[in-house]
Amino acid sequence: MTTDTGRTLQADGAGSDFPSTGTAESSRIALLTGASSWTLHPLPERGLRPLVLSDGPIGVRGVDEDTRPSAQLPTPTALAATWDLDLITRLGALIAGEARRKAVDVVLSPVVNLQRTPYGGRHFEAFSEDPLLTGAIAAQFIRSVQSYGVAVCAKHFVGNETETERTTYLARIPERALREVYLAPFERAVRDAGVWTVMAAYNRVDDGRLAAPATEHTRLINEVLKGEWGFDGVVVSDWLATNSTVESAAAGLDLVMPGPGGPWAEALEAAVSEGLVPAAVIDDKVERIVQLGIRVGAVGPESSATVDEDLPTKDSTRALLREAVARSIVVLRNDGLLPLSSRDLTSVALIGPNAVDPFVQGGGSAFVTAPYVVTPEQALREALPDALITTVRGTSGRAHARPIDPRLVTTPDGTPGYSITYLDESGNPLGAPRVVPAGEGWNRESPADATAARVQAVVTLDSPGTHRIEVGVSGQHTVSYDGTVVSESADWADHNVILDSSANHPGGPTGTFVVDEAPRLVTVESEQQIVDAGAYGRFVRFVLRHDKPELTPDDELEQAVAAAAAADVAIVVVGTNEETESEGWDRQDLDLPGRQNELVERVIQANPRTVVVVNAGAPVILPWLERAQAVVWWWLPGQEAGNGLADALLGVTEPSGRLPWTLPGAEADVPVSSTTPVDGVVDYAEGIHVGHRSWERLGRTPAREFGFGLGYGEWYYDRLEIIGTPDNLVAQVAVRNTGPREARETVQLYLEAPDSPVERPVRWLAGFAVADIPAASSRTVRIPIERRALEVWNVEQHRWEIPGGRYVFRAGRSSRDLRLSESVPLTDAG
Ligand code: BGC
Repeated sequence: MTTDTGRTLQADGAGSDFPSTGTAESSRIALLTGASSWTLHPLPERGLRPLVLSDGPIGVRGVDEDTRPSAQLPTPTALAATWDLDLITRLGALIAGEARRKAVDVVLSPVVNLQRTPYGGRHFEAFSEDPLLTGAIAAQFIRSVQSYGVAVCAKHFVGNETETERTTYLARIPERALREVYLAPFERAVRDAGVWTVMAAYNRVDDGRLAAPATEHTRLINEVLKGEWGFDGVVVSDWLATNSTVESAAAGLDLVMPGPGGPWAEALEAAVSEGLVPAAVIDDKVERIVQLGIRVGAVGPESSATVDEDLPTKDSTRALLREAVARSIVVLRNDGLLPLSSRDLTSVALIGPNAVDPFVQGGGSAFVTAPYVVTPEQALREALPDALITTVRGTSGRAHARPIDPRLVTTPDGTPGYSITYLDESGNPLGAPRVVPAGEGWNRESPADATAARVQAVVTLDSPGTHRIEVGVSGQHTVSYDGTVVSESADWADHNVILDSSANHPGGPTGTFVVDEAPRLVTVESEQQIVDAGAYGRFVRFVLRHDKPELTPDDELEQAVAAAAAADVAIVVVGTNEETESEGWDRQDLDLPGRQNELVERVIQANPRTVVVVNAGAPVILPWLERAQAVVWWWLPGQEAGNGLADALLGVTEPSGRLPWTLPGAEADVPVSSTTPVDGVVDYAEGIHVGHRSWERLGRTPAREFGFGLGYGEWYYDRLEIIGTPDNLVAQVAVRNTGPREARETVQLYLEAPDSPVERPVRWLAGFAVADIPAASSRTVRIPIERRALEVWNVEQHRWEIPGGRYVFRAGRSSRDLRLSESVPLTDAG
């Protein structure tokens, strides 16, 4: 769990010095709860040193005191958009190298939950809305990282597709959907890739037979994961997800995180001595953790493997990440403007809020600190040294101000920072005020007898004009500006405030101040609750934000229009930001925030030679899509953001991405649009028809379908052959590059079962392959078809089977651009 500034909260082990007795049994039980936020206890009698776990999907952050930057990958959805298993293998090697450098044994990645709805806050952290694509990318990633002796963690098991009420909701998933869609990537992670750890989710799950928290779901953990699939690794709880002792221990959970303290520790030791948890259950958990230790080299002599301290900034890392960014970019529209010819470009107008301030990673626990971020401007200047590059923001994409410049904040007596006076239950001060640096939004030093705090800050508005100040607080509070109360709330925040991340969401009372004569001082005061976040400690949340636009919004737009009109080409970068896409909350709508649509429309009018670049993880509605000459999707690209974009736009590397989700044209068309549990239940009523399958079933036309991506190639599909039996089925697709340059095609194979006796999706993805093919050449691409792609889960007999009948295999460029088909009769026996 990470705060909005990327600083990791340290769980505090108040009141817990377990294991206290020092007996062999207590140290074995102690191994089953974290020793800290990210580490385990050692088990000396087995030669096991303390194991270290760390997030996550975008890079390896490392433990709290490790402030060294981490290599920052494009967001997982971008990686899936490459459909490129070789690239995933190479990125897996980078993650393993980073884990070694940061002394991490278990990387808390990949997320294999599905993108069930584009409103999901953690959408950017997942690979795809499609179970087969998710499973294929995840399995490759797992195999790659673990081949270096570094463990990964397939998370969050299972039904964790929503952030609203995320610690309590019940995911009610029909049995077939559970098996064929939501468990499918986990099954592949375990059975095909041999993943060493799995994380049990926050939510509860109703699989039709048992409704229980994911950490206590004996059916899913003991019976399916460990029993049926033979998982021999460690099931770790999501952070603070475990709320029981006996139930979770008996259900197959192996490790409670974070620690120390929590629901196991002494309570588990007591439960064992009372006979409520059999000793054999503890033995099994201990053996699994020791086995994990053996797998990652934490048992026995220290590893002598060399650690590469320069890894995040090495040329090979830069080149790999640059390639990944370019390869992930999806060309959504191209009237011939792309690739831009660097020879003819004398001037470029680089416009948009995300051009100035690219959004390179989503918020929450996946956050890592990059060593650097290459902006589009830096990259274009390097790629086009003779061109005139003009950069203007055009508009803001944010509803809230940015964190304040600390230089503008002092205590009432003029000391830099703000002051906190702790108050006891009767409101009396406990000692002298403390001075806290202005950038420190989470203060965790509260004395035990304090229940509230008075925070005082004096903000200097140092120039004439209109300023905006915001202050973010958590829990019960009264906030005033210059003595006038601007916000009062009696709502008490409990420890869940950390997990639902509302404490991270920017916002809070806003004040607008028109300054005629600078400087003008504003006194901000808050009396507020000290939030008790359980294992994450007690804290005072106080975040000051400030901005002062130099231009009016209308003038800013005009400035962009003028820049676009004066340039050969305009590149407009629009998108989301950390106010929109984060762990901890879901999205409210799919609009580009602020006046960004207006900006795009105005720029296209001013200069038809405009490329629109969308910098977002999850879908946004693009009302102008068909009116722009060129539109590309840039994802949340990580540290090599600008270089990858420049390479793609200039054709140095082909942007060969294909959408791993469906891009809606209108919000009303989105099949699953609510993320709000109803009476605590998220009902997966669409069943097996997730994502593009629902669009087909409902007969709705998206703006761009699943699998779509133009790239720079031109393709003719010659021939499709299906060879073999269901246990060993292969599609061979002959594809011809009819264009003038070498290009990459992602050949996609879909299945239909029009006469099926059982309900099936209208069309589903059955396999894919990527091929680089020279100009005017043909290749026969081989696509192995997993048996699972043909099977359904029989809910009466609780087993897999292939319903006999006619299957139509369709090969093409996307889920709707299908060029060839072949009808084949199949039966379970082959
Ligand atoms: C997230 C996990 C993450 C864990 C540790 C939780 O809030 O759901 O994905 O690995 O925190 O940071």
